[in-house]
Amino acid sequence: MKIESGQVAVVTGGASGIGYALAEAFASRGLSVVLADVRPEPLGRAAETLAETHAKALAAAGAGVAAVTTDVSDPDAVQALADTTVERFGRVDVVCNNAGVVGRQAPMWEQTPQTWRWLIDVLLLGVANGVRSFAPSMIAQGQGHFLNTASAAGLMRLPLLGPYSTVKHAVVGLTETLDAELRAYAPAVGASALCPGLVDTPLVETSAAIRPDGAETSEPAAPGEDGSRKPIPGEVLTAAEVAEISIAGIEAGRVRILTHTDSFRPARARLAAVLADVDQAAASRDGSAG
Ligand SMILES: NC(=O)c1ccc[n+]([C@@H]2O[C@H](COP(=O)([O-])OP(=O)(O)OC[C@H]3O[C@@H](n4cnc5c(N)ncnc54)[C@H](O)[C@@H]3O)[C@@H](O)[C@H]2O)c1
Repeated sequence: MKIESGQVAVVTGGASGIGYALAEAFASRGLSVVLADVRPEPLGRAAETLAETHAKALAAAGAGVAAVTTDVSDPDAVQALADTTVERFGRVDVVCNNAGVVGRQAPMWEQTPQTWRWLIDVLLLGVANGVRSFAPSMIAQGQGHFLNTASAAGLMRLPLLGPYSTVKHAVVGLTETLDAELRAYAPAVGASALCPGLVDTPLVETSAAIRPDGAETSEPAAPGEDGSRKPIPGEVLTAAEVAEISIAGIEAGRVRILTHTDSFRPARARLAAVLADVDQAAASRDGSAG
């Protein structure tokens, strides 16, 4: 689907990081943007900044910005977000189910039940809630796209982030099935799983600040003397780079959008290992049949 002026985009987890960068990419192209986030103050500030920064592009397109405080793990709140979007802007073209948190780095047997529950509720059911509330409008319109933020950790194993990696695999699987279902009902409605590697965002800090009782997160790294976050080793993209790659991926109709070159090799290695298992199973069935 071509992303263009006059369309309406919804972005969950829109107060910060990848979500805010997606919102900027949409606003700069003249789309109306509905930002949703569980943190009301950062959300309000983000919506103001977005409207100011992109005032010209938004005014030229007759587009607007709205903010709706939303906990994506609450199905009623996500339905209210969908209702508000259609009441305010009349339609919805792109839904970015992007809100996210990350748990503590530890082996899986040390992860608390509350950590599992939290990640499943926000990262997986948050996406499912978005799909339930927004898909009917898109199908009725005959046009639309879901961008579900998974992770490179949804395409390969990631020891010590077991719950996160497990749930991100589920988001990739959900999105592949969703794309097939949507296209069967309306060929111009589809879905993409965004699979970034490391992105320079405050994900660890935000997660630590909002984790529920019993859920665990890693300690955020101490900031440098100038207040900046400590550089992370490895390939790190900016949220703005990820947003631009995402839009290109939506326009190309990619079901999985990979962003980081350092993900290509491990993703390929996992697929090769799966293929080897398939080939071995097929060979052993052939052998037993003969
Ligand atoms: N930063 C990375 O390296 C990276 C890599 C791969 C995938 N991701 C994914 O990208 C997405 C965005 O994360 P980010 O890195 O931009 O971090 P971020 O912390 O900057 O943004 C996440 C936003 O989600 C919001 N949020 C958390 N729980 C919510 C809830 N229940 N309901 C609504 N909003 C909620 C937070 O308040 C925050 O504003 C997440 O799904 C994350 O898992 C991040």
